[in-house]
Amino acid sequence: MAQNWTPSSWRNKPIQQVPEYPDQAALAATEAQLATFPPLVFAGEARRLKSQLAKVANGDAFLLQGGDCAESFLEHGADNIRDFFRAFLQMAVVLTYGAQLPVVKVGRIAGQFAKPRSSNFETQGDVTLPSYRGDIINGIDFTPESRIPAPERQLDAYRQSAATLNLLRAFAMGGYANLENVQKWMLGFVKDSPQGERYRKLADRIGETMDFMRAIGITAENQPSLRETDFFTSHEALLLGYEEALTRVDSTSGDWYATSGHMIWIGDRTRQLDHAHVEYFRGIKNPIGLKCGPSLQPDNLIELIDALNPANEAGRLTLICRFGYDKVADSLPKLIRAVEREGKKVVWSCDPMHGNTITLNNYKTRPFDRILSEVESFFQIHRAEGSHPGGIHIEMTGKDVTECTGGARAVTAGDLQDRYHTHCDPRLNADQALELAFLLAERMKSGRDEKRMVVNG
Ligand code: TRP
Ligand code: MN
Repeated sequence: MAQNWTPSSWRNKPIQQVPEYPDQAALAATEAQLATFPPLVFAGEARRLKSQLAKVANGDAFLLQGGDCAESFLEHGADNIRDFFRAFLQMAVVLTYGAQLPVVKVGRIAGQFAKPRSSNFETQGDVTLPSYRGDIINGIDFTPESRIPAPERQLDAYRQSAATLNLLRAFAMGGYANLENVQKWMLGFVKDSPQGERYRKLADRIGETMDFMRAIGITAENQPSLRETDFFTSHEALLLGYEEALTRVDSTSGDWYATSGHMIWIGDRTRQLDHAHVEYFRGIKNPIGLKCGPSLQPDNLIELIDALNPANEAGRLTLICRFGYDKVADSLPKLIRAVEREGKKVVWSCDPMHGNTITLNNYKTRPFDRILSEVESFFQIHRAEGSHPGGIHIEMTGKDVTECTGGARAVTAGDLQDRYHTHCDPRLNADQALELAFLLAERMKSGRDEKRMVVNG
């Protein structure tokens, strides 16, 4: 691997998943313009996330990462962001309460626009067009014009990310995330579901605890931690020209940071050791993720860890495992053993979405029981190996969509057509996301109780 890293050294490497921009001069002009724009995040925030992830790596916190598969220009609006955020807060509070561990909150949002595709082309009837690659690159409409990669879309993605991040920051710091609002985060359609009932009970208990604390003088007015939360952003950094333009030197440390989001990850399709994406990622100091699918072999993983985290810094690298409910038992233990043997510090996170996609009635969907099954296996395997199941990475929305089948309010194959809104992969609706959070909280609680029993003999 080349020794000298620069924000553009990835350009000398082979690369996967690049769009073919017909107008290279326009692309260069757009990138040059982006390079003059303010950073979206500040390096100090990325360092703060890294230190929180270091706690996850050590088993002292849990990572919750989630959001849309792909954000869309059309659906950009305050209601969507608010509904996502409140569903996310509900999950976070269920997990914090159940696991009695701090929850590190990372949205798949404010930058999640570029999608890797399994095929460069899409055929409908007898028409074949370039695949849709996310709103930052081309349009989803199945027309030749819409599918041409257009550089100006990168400016729109930047502006949308800035506006989204602005609202999220306001929610996180400005009072919306105040624990005194825990009852108010309930979404209308969740209210009359089994999860709604469970959530209400938990919210009542938290409310009582808050009342007790108020009586002894601890209130949201005098305790910022009760009224504020750290919320971070993340996305797959697939479109490296965009990322390069937003790569900046942090004046306080002299280090390079990706400033398009707090955390960025490498996809399962672009993680070749000697290729462009790994080259770009090795030079930035943000906390980063690496998607690990069934084809990843232990030796290969160790080489990637050496390239991406040579100092073995806890919190730098999150391994986001996406094997599939029927493959996780084959794939995960050997990776855990290799990492343990080499003494590598990583966060283990479970993405139970991407290995569990099937087609039903011509819809891409994910059965909820397979999602739960992969999560269960992930926990069991980590318990058996003595490693820490550090977090979860999910595709979810605050909306009442019908994209994944199953859940307590069972979405059936026939329901998929009702509210199937995703631009890319099927997401958990708010109800299903909450159900998953309750299950996770239970698993984490029982893991903790087991540990206590061991400690107490
Ligand atoms: N500040 C704490 C935290 O972020 C407690 C907290 C405040 C919280 N608002 C929250 C926890 C909303 C979960 C959800 O963990
Ligand atoms: Mn996806």
